Amino acid sequence: FATVSVLVPAAGQGTRLGRGPKAFVRVGGRTLLEWVLAAFAWADEVRVALPPGVPPPPAAANVRFVPGGAERQESVARLLEGAGGDVVLVHDAARPFVVPAVVDRLLAAVAGSGAAVPVVPLPDTLIEPEEGRYGPALDRSRYALVQTPQAFFREVLAEAHQLARAEGRTATDEAQLVRALGYPVELVPGDRRMFKVTFPEDLALAEALARVWEE
Ligand code: CTP
Ligand code: MG
Repeated sequence: FATVSVLVPAAGQGTRLGRGPKAFVRVGGRTLLEWVLAAFAWADEVRVALPPGVPPPPAAANVRFVPGGAERQESVARLLEGAGGDVVLVHDAARPFVVPAVVDRLLAAVAGSGAAVPVVPLPDTLIEPEEGRYGPALDRSRYALVQTPQAFFREVLAEAHQLARAEGRTATDEAQLVRALGYPVELVPGDRRMFKVTFPEDLALAEALARVWEE
């Protein structure tokens, strides 16, 4: 590609983690955001959405900060405005461990299809509980967990966001919006180390992984 812009929604409050705005929580001596910025030092441009009122931290010359929105989708929409890359990679600040091999797969896949996301299989049995009781089990081999980074031609993602806004649709990731546009989204193998730090117990796992992280 000519250029890659990385869009980092980092404007969440981290309510479930309970340690204040999550992007600024430390793991292995650096904030979650610092892990992500280090992983994308190679990118042409990194755009980060911050929570309202949080001053931009010091960062490299390729990093820009914008005020985030009330919802993740709005934060990403604001990041897209003014983004310049031919390809955009949208990556949660809450996923500090970016596996380079997965990024390579995404960039290879997006070149052909215009949209690609990493997925991992479900480790556990998947059920639909019925009023607190064990309900029907779903065939977990038919399902996948979706991670970030998610890769798109910038113009495809911009069109998907505009359509979602016009129709008042919301989604928990960008690929849903692109799919709603009728665009095929390619799947590539993700990596369980790219888990999202969400609950307090995730911090212990992240600390342990930080100690052995070499990529
Ligand atoms: N995010 C964002 N803007 C929002 C909400 C979320 O940029 N208005 C970002 C978060 O900073 C995070 C990513 O989207 O990097 C995934 O969201 P999530 O894990 O839900 O983080 P939080 O919203 O911060 O956590 P919680 O839902 O527990 O409050
Ligand atoms: Mg949230």
